[in-house]
Amino acid sequence: MSTNDPHPHGIASSSGEPHDAGAARGDRDDRTATGADVDCRIRAVRARRVWDSRGRPTVEAEIELAGGAVGRAIVPAGASKGSREAHELRDGGAPFGGLDVLQAVANVETEIARAVVGLRADDQAALDQRLVEVDGTPTKSRLGANATLAVSMAAAHAAATARRVPLHEYLGGAAATLMPLPQIQIFGGGAHAGRRVDIQDFMVVCPAARSFAEALEWTAEVYRHAGLVMQARGASLGVADEGGWWPDFVSNEEALATLVEAIERAGYAPGEQVAIALDIAASDFGRACRYTLGLDAKVLDSDGMIELLLGWIDAYPIVSIEDPLGEDDADAFARFTRAAGDRVQIVGDDFLVSDAALVADAAAIGAANAVLLKPNQRGTLSETRAAWDAAKAHGYAGIVSARSGETEDTTIVHLAVGWGTGQLKVGSFARGERMAKWNEALRIEERLGPRARLARPLPRRPR
Ligand code: PGA
Ligand code: ZN
Repeated sequence: MSTNDPHPHGIASSSGEPHDAGAARGDRDDRTATGADVDCRIRAVRARRVWDSRGRPTVEAEIELAGGAVGRAIVPAGASKGSREAHELRDGGAPFGGLDVLQAVANVETEIARAVVGLRADDQAALDQRLVEVDGTPTKSRLGANATLAVSMAAAHAAATARRVPLHEYLGGAAATLMPLPQIQIFGGGAHAGRRVDIQDFMVVCPAARSFAEALEWTAEVYRHAGLVMQARGASLGVADEGGWWPDFVSNEEALATLVEAIERAGYAPGEQVAIALDIAASDFGRACRYTLGLDAKVLDSDGMIELLLGWIDAYPIVSIEDPLGEDDADAFARFTRAAGDRVQIVGDDFLVSDAALVADAAAIGAANAVLLKPNQRGTLSETRAAWDAAKAHGYAGIVSARSGETEDTTIVHLAVGWGTGQLKVGSFARGERMAKWNEALRIEERLGPRARLARPLPRRPR
C-alpha cells in the first residue's frame, strides 16, 4: 500500500486487543504479542459465485494464509457506470441476462491463485501489482476487475485477521480515528429507479452531528418523515435500488423541495444541521454536452445545465454535487467548479472513476474538488488508494462509495476509516446491504471510543 502513514499495518492500539502493540513491524517479525506465528503467505485462494442486492451474480473470494488466517470479500456492481471504469467480466449468454460470473470465479481459482499463492497478504502493493501483471491489460479486461478486486480485498481481510486487528486498524494504524461523514440517500432516481426522476441521488449529510451515531439518528428521522410526506401525497412507489424512496414526482425540483420539507418535519434546521447532497449522474442523460431532463421536458447544453444547478444551489441548502456534468464534459466541469467550488463540494464519480491519473488531469484544469472512491472501478485496493493519494496531493476531498448492487460485505467502511477519507456514501437508510455498512461503522465508532472524531469536510449553509 502506498502510504506514508507511520503505522500502515496497525502496530499500536489502545483498545486492549491481543496483538503486538508497540512491536516494530518493519522487520517483518511475524510474531504477535502472544508469540503466535502469523505467517502471512497466501496458502490457498478460493472463489464462488454469490448474489447481490439486485439478485445478480457476483464474485466472492476467500484467501487462506499459511498461518491459518482466512479473509473473505465480495465485489459489488454498478448500474450507472463510467465508461473508463475497469472491466467487470460477465459471461454473456442467456443465463441471468448475461450477467453470470462463472468465468471470473474460474479465473480466481486458476490463473490468479497460481500467481498469488506464496505472496504475502500483508504486502498489498506487491500483491496488487502481481494482479495487474497477471491480467496484463490496461482495464483488467482479460481476467476481470471483479476477479482481481475480490482477491485484493480478501487478502487485506486475511492479513488483518492474522494481525488480530480490525481491517480499519490494519489499514490505517491506531491513529486512524476519523469517522467518515455519511452521505445518505433519501430519494433514489435515475438508473436506480426506472428513470422516474432524472437526478440519481437526493441525499442528506449532517454536518452538525457530533458523532457518526448521531448522524444516523438524524438521518433515520429525515428518512422516516420523507416517507410520511410522500405517503400523504400518494407520491411513493416503494424503494429504489439503494433503498431510497422511489418517488412519483412531477419535476426534479419537487424532490429538493420535498427533501427540505422532510428535514424540517423531522425537526432539523436545513443547511445548518441537515444539508443536501446530490448525485446528478449526468453521464446517464447527457452526451456530447447535451443534457435531456426527461421529467422536466428540457434539453440543456452544458451552460444551461450549469445555470440550472447554480439556481438550485441558491435556492436549496445543497453542500455537495456529484457528477453535475457528463464524464466527457471536462471543460464544463471546470467552469462549474470555478462558479460553485467555493460553496459546494463538486465530486467526480463517472468523471474520475477512482483513477489517480484522471484526478491529476482534472486538478490541472480545476475540474471538481472531490473524488468518489469505488474499488471496483479500478480492480485493486492499491490503485483505489492511489486515487485517494492523488486527491490529497491536489487538495481534493475523498468519499469512499458503495455501488448500487451491493452485498453484506462491509470492506468499504473500513477503507473510509483506515484511509481517513472523511466521507462515506453507501446508499439509503433501508435494505440489509446498506444497513450492514452503517451498522459496521457504528461498531467501529464504538470500538474507537473517545478517540473517534466525526469528520467535518463540508461547509454549513444556514438559511
Ligand atoms: P452505481 O451508482 O453503483 O450504479 O454506479 C452509484 C453512484 O453513481 O454513485
Ligand atoms: Zn455517482
